[in-house]
Amino acid sequence: MKNIVILISGRGSNMMAIAEACAAEGWNARVAAVISNRQDAAGLAEAAQRGIATAVVDHRVHATRAAFDAALADVIDGFAPDLVVLAGFMRILSAEFVNRYAGRMLNIHPSLLPAFSGLNTHRRAIDAGCKLAGATVHVVTPELDHGPIVAQAAVPVLEGDTEEALAARVTAAEHILYPRVVRWWVDGDVDFSGEGRMVHRRGEAQWLL
Ligand code: GRF
Repeated sequence: MKNIVILISGRGSNMMAIAEACAAEGWNARVAAVISNRQDAAGLAEAAQRGIATAVVDHRVHATRAAFDAALADVIDGFAPDLVVLAGFMRILSAEFVNRYAGRMLNIHPSLLPAFSGLNTHRRAIDAGCKLAGATVHVVTPELDHGPIVAQAAVPVLEGDTEEALAARVTAAEHILYPRVVRWWVDGDVDFSGEGRMVHRRGEAQWLL
């Protein structure tokens, strides 16, 4: 049974989608822990209610990024992770931290990368006149939002969309996409460790429309 450790900073809706799919579909894996850098992350209580171990590593009590990352890695490693899943984890991670989990750490970003890395993705997609927006699951590498793309989901940008309306549409797609990709990994069907930009999955499409 593989151990999945999920890092969150807020609501945790992707974390819950993964935990629910894991239980409902009987994955050969368990969500071993949900860890947040914020004590007030709403997702922590949701995880605890589901009987999942939770932990907080508060970035504010660590003087440097390196010190925070080292403390975070210690807590993560206490749960013997096979896969580390970033799900709305709002801290930039050092190269040392990222390299420690090379090939076994995923992130979901709310845009069709490589467009709109960074913040305010929905506002920027609307302002740019995009007709499609979406989300990307990618392997985490030291360069922010630039790791090899594993899968993407696209949704329409509708006439008159607000940032909130578009965000809700993207989030709904994320809740299908992210559990699917994590399951591929659990099943050993996707290889995240390659040097190239393409991450291949046998069988199922790596896009969702
Ligand atoms: C998602 O939109 C994800 O793409 C981004 O942060 C948001 C997290 O939402 N990285 P939630 O905490 O999973 O509800």
